[in-house]
Amino acid sequence: MFAVYAESFSTDDPLSGLVLGERPDPVAEDGWTIVDVKATALNHHDLWSLRGVGLKQEALPMILGCDAAGVDQDGNEVVVHAVVSDPSWQGDETLDPKRSLLSERYQGTLADRVAVPTRNVVPKPASLSFEEAACLPTAWLTAYRMLFTQGGLKPGESVLVQGAGGGVATALIALGRAAGLRVYATSRDETKRARALELGAHEVFETGARLPTRVDAVMETVGRATWSHSVKSLRPGGTLVVSGTTSGPNPDNAELTRVFFLQLRVIGSTMGTQAELRSLTELLDVSGVRPVIDRVLPLEKARDGFAAMAGGDLFGKVVFTR
Ligand SMILES: NC(=O)c1ccc[n+]([C@@H]2O[C@H](COP(=O)([O-])OP(=O)(O)OC[C@H]3O[C@@H](n4cnc5c(N)ncnc54)[C@H](OP(=O)(O)O)[C@@H]3O)[C@@H](O)[C@H]2O)c1
Repeated sequence: MFAVYAESFSTDDPLSGLVLGERPDPVAEDGWTIVDVKATALNHHDLWSLRGVGLKQEALPMILGCDAAGVDQDGNEVVVHAVVSDPSWQGDETLDPKRSLLSERYQGTLADRVAVPTRNVVPKPASLSFEEAACLPTAWLTAYRMLFTQGGLKPGESVLVQGAGGGVATALIALGRAAGLRVYATSRDETKRARALELGAHEVFETGARLPTRVDAVMETVGRATWSHSVKSLRPGGTLVVSGTTSGPNPDNAELTRVFFLQLRVIGSTMGTQAELRSLTELLDVSGVRPVIDRVLPLEKARDGFAAMAGGDLFGKVVFTR
């Protein structure tokens, strides 16, 4: 089958290890199913994999991709949950020490077909296209858990979203607005700030600019470049939820004095549970909120999508279709 896979790692030139070509068809073990992929989406995780972050040399060649929407062996339209926990694990799959994401231990979704545990498929609402549904398993699920589970945000509260153009960030803005939050967003780019306003942000700011008022929570995926500003933007007792470090994991100033003096809560967040993915699909079905898609490309043009993400030249998701 046709697939997009990592053959080698490079920190400086991640696309050098990216290959588009033939890979063996997946085989479904007991308790697994095969999904015919109709649409799949790109995540920064795929670039990290090509840099050798989170993926082991001995796992190569590895088909990339965590996100897929397609049709299972029984003909059902489904969305794939990318968090694969141990079969014996009960409860929150993201907390299983043995869990992995598709494309880390098991082959990923940038392919004609993907094998997944049967419990990892969730019904796709008819109101969502395959392209829209393909955006949910990683970026949108991460945003959902950051806001509502880890952030515990309630209607009427305020949130700052850093780095407005990212896949997670656009989801945070759209979901935050739909949930009745006051949404502030930052971006380095004027055009992206304007797009963030259209998407639902109440106010937008240049990266690092002082906000008119301190917020209840900050959603952080940028890391080093925005960390200090995130801490300084919180009200006493506020919550900083972090799920990514696109600009690097080591901030120049961790602002620890502020963290303890203002009794801030710093909470990590990764992906989400299968139950949260179901809730997210329901939320989109009833609210009419839809993922922001920067571009849709045939999977054969995947290299163009990877290059756009590596260049930071995106607003929302890159989706590949079969
Ligand atoms: N923990 C998890 O489960 C999980 C899930 C999904 C993603 N993530 C992580 O979250 C991060 C975001 O991923 P993504 O796929 O949404 O998109 P992304 O392409 O990594 O995010 C791009 C955004 O980051 C901002 N940015 C990048 N470098 C910056 C810098 N030097 N200064 C300020 N802003 C900068 C940009 O915002 P502007 O251009 O608008 O300023 C850009 O739009 C990644 O690191 C990813 O690995 C984690």
